[in-house]
Amino acid sequence: MKVKEQQQILFKSRQIENIGELDVYAQHGGYEGLKRALAMKPDDLIELVKASGLRGRGGAGFPTGMKWSFVPKTPGKPKYLCVNCDESEPGTCKDRELVEEQPHQLIEGIAICCWAVGIETAFLYIRGEMLEGYLALRKAIDEAYKAGFLGKSVMKSGYKLDIVLHRGAGAYICGEESALLSSLEGGRGFPRLKPPFPAISGLYACPTVINNVETLSTLPHILVNGAEWYAGFGTEKSKGTRIFCLSGHVKKPGNYEMELTSTMRDLIFGCGGGILEDKELKAIIPGGASAPMLTREHLDVGLDFESIAAAGSMAGSGAVVVMHQDTCMVGAILRIMEFFEEESCGKCTPCREGTRWMRDVLIRIHSGHGQKSDLDLLLSVCGNLAGKSFCPLGDASTSCVTSGLRYFKDEFEHLVEHKKSKYSLGAYDPRLVAAHH
Ligand SMILES: Cc1cc2nc3c(=O)[nH]c(=O)nc-3n(C[C@H](O)[C@H](O)[C@H](O)COP(=O)(O)O)c2cc1C
Repeated sequence: MKVKEQQQILFKSRQIENIGELDVYAQHGGYEGLKRALAMKPDDLIELVKASGLRGRGGAGFPTGMKWSFVPKTPGKPKYLCVNCDESEPGTCKDRELVEEQPHQLIEGIAICCWAVGIETAFLYIRGEMLEGYLALRKAIDEAYKAGFLGKSVMKSGYKLDIVLHRGAGAYICGEESALLSSLEGGRGFPRLKPPFPAISGLYACPTVINNVETLSTLPHILVNGAEWYAGFGTEKSKGTRIFCLSGHVKKPGNYEMELTSTMRDLIFGCGGGILEDKELKAIIPGGASAPMLTREHLDVGLDFESIAAAGSMAGSGAVVVMHQDTCMVGAILRIMEFFEEESCGKCTPCREGTRWMRDVLIRIHSGHGQKSDLDLLLSVCGNLAGKSFCPLGDASTSCVTSGLRYFKDEFEHLVEHKKSKYSLGAYDPRLVAAHH
């Protein structure tokens, strides 16, 4: 069966040597999008981004132009942009590549957004572990100041823009936008109650836009080629391309940019070259650890937001994790739950206690000490957590359990009955479990 190839927009210049340097970026059309943006009225620019159909690539898929239009136009308080480069969803590594390899593409996108919304200070929040990305951004921001793309008069337009680069300390919750704001203000990375939404009261209680790295990196291309051109890619509701981070049991893992008319099969068997050792595909996590798992029955599901949702999961962060026939699904689910238990910020009881409880029950089943009633217990904890936690992290932690029990219940039952997994990968190893506690 013929599979679709990559469609590169953000990755178009990926192969160009030293594209991270300003001179090389400028030689290949860099900052042309910003020049065009500065020639436009901010409101027209927002309309252009709305017309392109661009939706956020951080997880929720919210329409970008619409988000910008919520920021009040009244003068008074300063307005801010917070760039979300926390990227901690397991399996996700696209923003890291974008900032390490093409930092000017992001800086240009930041400047376009800030001009549209009337922002003079942008904060770039980068995950603490991303040292290379930090260094690449530090260098590129300094270059952009020197060349007049940032600073007192951006491209001699009289418009002033500063970028503050801020390193996080490595907490998953700080990727959640309101926790990111708390962390940036110097507080503990706890999520905040919404409303008020950041567009009205965000950083330092001022109107704030929060956007993902990939979302902002798309903007220069929309400015240069037009909204109609961008909207010509993808489906009716999911326009353009998206970078998918393909990992797990595939022959060629990596970041692949695909048009949003492509399918899981295109990604896994086309770009990814199929399953390792030509084994049988068992499970697909289509949008990072927060997304419910799918199976090989879902290979023809589209990669767009709507198709993945219709299949019972979510597009999430764009991380597609593939598991083959030898994987012990209870072991895989336990590993995911250990992540959520570790990263639960502890602010609300359902998430703090629920993730720990689910982890303990999963260890019990996985180590051969479970009972049949533990399966119902797991679902009961999920029911008391989903929709009842303070922020979406709690909901997300239940996805692997509910989808795991939907598709792989027989593996749970086998473990309860026979006290041992029949699969070689991820089978219970007390040393590994002990190492995590
Ligand atoms: C627990 C949690 C972690 C998140 N982590 C990230 C992240 O690392 N990067 C990101 O861009 N968005 C992350 N998000 C989504 C953000 O809250 C927010 O929706 C996004 O940054 C908005 O940008 P966008 O509209 O450009 O997608 C996370 C959300 C949750 C609930």
